Amino acid sequence: MANKVVIITGGTRGIGKAIAMALADGNTLVLTHTNPNFTGDAALISELREKGAKEVIIKVWLVQDETASQNAVAEIIASYGRIDVLVNNAGITRDNLSLRLSKEDWDKVLEVNLFGAFLVSRLCAKHMLKARYGRIINLSSVVGFSGNPGQANYSASKAGLIGLTKTLALEYASRGVTVNAVAPGFISTDMTEKLSQEQKAAYLEKIPLKSFGSPDDVANAIAFLASDKASYITGQTLHVNGGLYL
Ligand SMILES: NC(=O)c1ccc[n+]([C@@H]2O[C@H](COP(=O)([O-])OP(=O)(O)OC[C@H]3O[C@@H](n4cnc5c(N)ncnc54)[C@H](O)[C@@H]3O)[C@@H](O)[C@H]2O)c1
Repeated sequence: MANKVVIITGGTRGIGKAIAMALADGNTLVLTHTNPNFTGDAALISELREKGAKEVIIKVWLVQDETASQNAVAEIIASYGRIDVLVNNAGITRDNLSLRLSKEDWDKVLEVNLFGAFLVSRLCAKHMLKARYGRIINLSSVVGFSGNPGQANYSASKAGLIGLTKTLALEYASRGVTVNAVAPGFISTDMTEKLSQEQKAAYLEKIPLKSFGSPDDVANAIAFLASDKASYITGQTLHVNGGLYL
């Protein structure tokens, strides 16, 4: 991959940052930030430049915000003329047992994780379809397949992303745009740091490869799906979970 324009939503930390590192070489990267007071991250930009990124843009952009998403995509098109790769990585959790889960926490998780990915995908797809080239990759999760107590909202959003992936793959295939998903298992990041030691020990017990994954493990799978080596793969889910879901 080189000379591509790549959007990675939530690409400034955790798995998203590892994806940005993996896709940096020779490419223009657009990453999103949720903090309205964000003024820049010189350290991250120089790290990505060292990895070979041509240009790095970090935009304050909430993926579920229709106006912000329309404006962001329009600005990228105005500056670079195209979008080659979109990685829908932005995601949140608001965990609670279903009997206690508020409608607000249900809506918030579905809005960011599922609607956000749908919205940004179709805004980018308009340009990808015209160019007859594009790669869309959605971050699902093992819990979208297995379910997980306390994550009715999150697991529903991640299962929903699989239906979205397959449908968009069918809608866009004839114009050279592929749509795939990656479903990570337990990956060590800020998101999983919130879990208790007991919860982590219980997961480890269930993972056949006997270790948690790293953000790089997920980024490597995404780099493959974004590359021309994966040009005949669409509508699929690549599981990156150490055998957790077998
Ligand atoms: N860590 C894991 O074990 C794991 C497992 C399976 C799936 N995932 C998925 O991988 C993705 C990345 O997870 P992570 O562990 O790096 O999480 P993280 O919390 O470290 O990072 C999430 C990123 O999303 C961004 N974000 C949150 N809300 C946003 C919004 N409304 N608009 C734009 N950006 C927003 C955050 O700023 C952050 O950069 C998520 O979709 C997550 O659900 C993670």
